[in-house]
Amino acid sequence: MGSLLDRLRRVQDAAVEGKRVVVRVDYNVPLAEGRVADDARIRASLPTLKNILDRGGMPIIISHLGRPEGKVVPELRLDPVADRLQELLGHSVRKLESCVGDEVKQAIAEWEPGSVVLLENVRFFPEEAADDAGFARELASLGDVYVDDAFATLHRAHASTLGIADYLPSYAGILVQQEIEALARLTDGPEHPYIAIIGGKKARSKLGALRDLVGRVDAVLIGGGVAFTFLRAKGIDVGGSIVDESLLGEIELVIQNAQERDVPIVLPQDVVIAHELSDGADASVSAADEIPADSMGLDIGPETVRTFREQISKARTIVWAGPLGAFEFAPFSTGTREIGKALAESDAFTVVGGGETGEAVAQLGVSKGISWISTGGGACLALLRGKGLPALEALRD
Ligand code: 3PG
Ligand code: MG
Repeated sequence: MGSLLDRLRRVQDAAVEGKRVVVRVDYNVPLAEGRVADDARIRASLPTLKNILDRGGMPIIISHLGRPEGKVVPELRLDPVADRLQELLGHSVRKLESCVGDEVKQAIAEWEPGSVVLLENVRFFPEEAADDAGFARELASLGDVYVDDAFATLHRAHASTLGIADYLPSYAGILVQQEIEALARLTDGPEHPYIAIIGGKKARSKLGALRDLVGRVDAVLIGGGVAFTFLRAKGIDVGGSIVDESLLGEIELVIQNAQERDVPIVLPQDVVIAHELSDGADASVSAADEIPADSMGLDIGPETVRTFREQISKARTIVWAGPLGAFEFAPFSTGTREIGKALAESDAFTVVGGGETGEAVAQLGVSKGISWISTGGGACLALLRGKGLPALEALRD
């Protein structure tokens, strides 16, 4: 997949001096008490913004935040993001109240060199997710050049990620280039053994990736909420743990396919259980097939950590998507922390995918030593599965 990068038009090659540059970023960041709780995605956009500013261009930034579904949702305004961006970038950030219309045109006309304009949450407009051509043209009319640096949104064919590229010369930002380069090492002749570690709360969001990864990797290790639906599909009673009954049939097929290919699917043999999900919960360790009916599994147990560590120590390429337990709560954070450490200690090429897993390793202090932490969740999985990313195609010759 080296060719993927070769044919990508790069922001570094775009003429931006004196130009209005519409930059799509992914500032879909967690907020807490009106502030940005994890600024990794904002930091990741700085190289592109600086590249444009250093060369005398005028960045006009577009982002979404959350899923307001085409309506103005006051809690999803981008003001906290603008504050954090201004601190990190060290340039003045003018946050507007809309994405289109007179106020926006006026602000762009008043632009001062070295400053940036941040438009309001683009998903306040129903035309965004509909990839409406008229709306895409209006966004395009704000600038002379379009740069897409929203790696985490590349799997969405929306007006500000795909449609807009019909109307302006379009380039990939530096984050997009870095992500593609790193993830190409997983899809383009990865070193074997290649293992995938899959966690996260919901089995449904990982099922497609699991189905495809079984044909690409040498082993799949499963933790998090996903593991309980797998255990259940194997006929194991998992007590009060989270199970998606509607997926059992499909998961049986994944297990069968893996068996035919001789790809082990390693499930937890022990888990940390509790009656409730809280910081003060009374947690204990149980065999995975002996979880009492009134308890739920909320993390992988110590034996499972040992088994996962053994697999990790033998691997040459590792991808990890989805926390292995409810890491936000101290009693259930050990599995995710230990596996993060194991990845950092490994000499393998190690990739963490999924916005939430990146947040987890940062929060638990184990991100150092991991080869690449992707800013993308769905986009990252789509790429690993060998699926095209619609918005990426628009940036290639
Ligand atoms: C993400 O956080 O995965 C991206 O920002 C995409 O968000 P979406 O799943 O709401 O399209
Ligand atoms: Mg390492």
